[in-house]
Amino acid sequence: MLESLNDVYNLHDLKELAHTRLERNALEYYSSGSMDGHTLLESTAVFSRLKLRPRMLCDVSSVDTRTTLLGLDLSSPLCAAPTAFHRMAHDEGERATARAIRQFGTLMTLSTLSNTDMEEVGLEAQGRWWFQLYVFRDRELTRSLVARAEQAGARALVLTVDTPRLGRREINVRNLFRLPEHLSIKNAGTQGWMPPASQGGDGLAEFVAAQMDASLSWKDLEWLRSITQLPIVLKGILTAEDAKLTLEHGANAIWVSTHGGRQVDTAVSTLEALPEIVEAVNGQLEVYLDGGIRRGSDVLKALALGARAVFLGRPVLWGLACGGEAGVSKMLNMLQYELELTMALCGKNSLEGLKPDLIFG
Ligand code: GLV
Repeated sequence: MLESLNDVYNLHDLKELAHTRLERNALEYYSSGSMDGHTLLESTAVFSRLKLRPRMLCDVSSVDTRTTLLGLDLSSPLCAAPTAFHRMAHDEGERATARAIRQFGTLMTLSTLSNTDMEEVGLEAQGRWWFQLYVFRDRELTRSLVARAEQAGARALVLTVDTPRLGRREINVRNLFRLPEHLSIKNAGTQGWMPPASQGGDGLAEFVAAQMDASLSWKDLEWLRSITQLPIVLKGILTAEDAKLTLEHGANAIWVSTHGGRQVDTAVSTLEALPEIVEAVNGQLEVYLDGGIRRGSDVLKALALGARAVFLGRPVLWGLACGGEAGVSKMLNMLQYELELTMALCGKNSLEGLKPDLIFG
């Protein structure tokens, strides 16, 4: 039985402990996948099926994991994905995440659906953050979110492109997911009070249906470009076709994601989608990946197949639930240790050395 962070040795332990700490509404919301959860399950399973081809006698007396993302120096390719509602996991919520990330020296992506104002997070993150954008039907609200993110020091906008509607997470439908009464979607001001769904069911699904713009299409990228100087990252791309359109429409990076297995069930896993996307962009854009990263070897595999960085979603929430900032730091440091160890054991002393020849078959 795990009792505290001291008993935690890996992300599986962290998950187990977090699951004893979170109250039911939050636990079900964070853990849910859509429909039958095939994509969610596959997101982790796919990594263990892929085998490594370790090389020997390579002088790995020092191992360097530094990199850059859109020009920002990072200590490591381990970053925080946008996840909603951090204050359901810990009272300090997104501010605790920002402090852990800043200390670790990488970057976090703040969700539009955060329980903390982006200005407060910006102060904690000190430039180590991107803002994840949902486009509201209310374009003035959207425009003001973008302007505030620029003002508060975000380094990029991450436009989520896979959520014209919220995926059906039946556990949240069945158990009437709603935000605890003391929390709101802070960035959306008076529009951010998420009432219980009027028809019963998943309160967030109803909020998304009412507020977000399902008509969003490629032409809206020009609109977004016209209102911001920030680089634009498209999150949720899963095919070479959409990767090529991303290039044509002048976005600045691609984030391969299945939204934590919460949108299209039976969608291809991110690790399987990655190669065709990397091939399609042919080095013209940075490509990132999220979904299912639980071990340092998973990071190695994603990077070998062409991701420049990986983003952690649920593991950040588990860290928060187990100890706020200290829990998120522990999560990052455990994964960093495993990444460096696996690099050394595979004969790699820098990220540049991670190429497809590291993967068997
Ligand atoms: C929000 O983006 C969610 O996936 O619940």
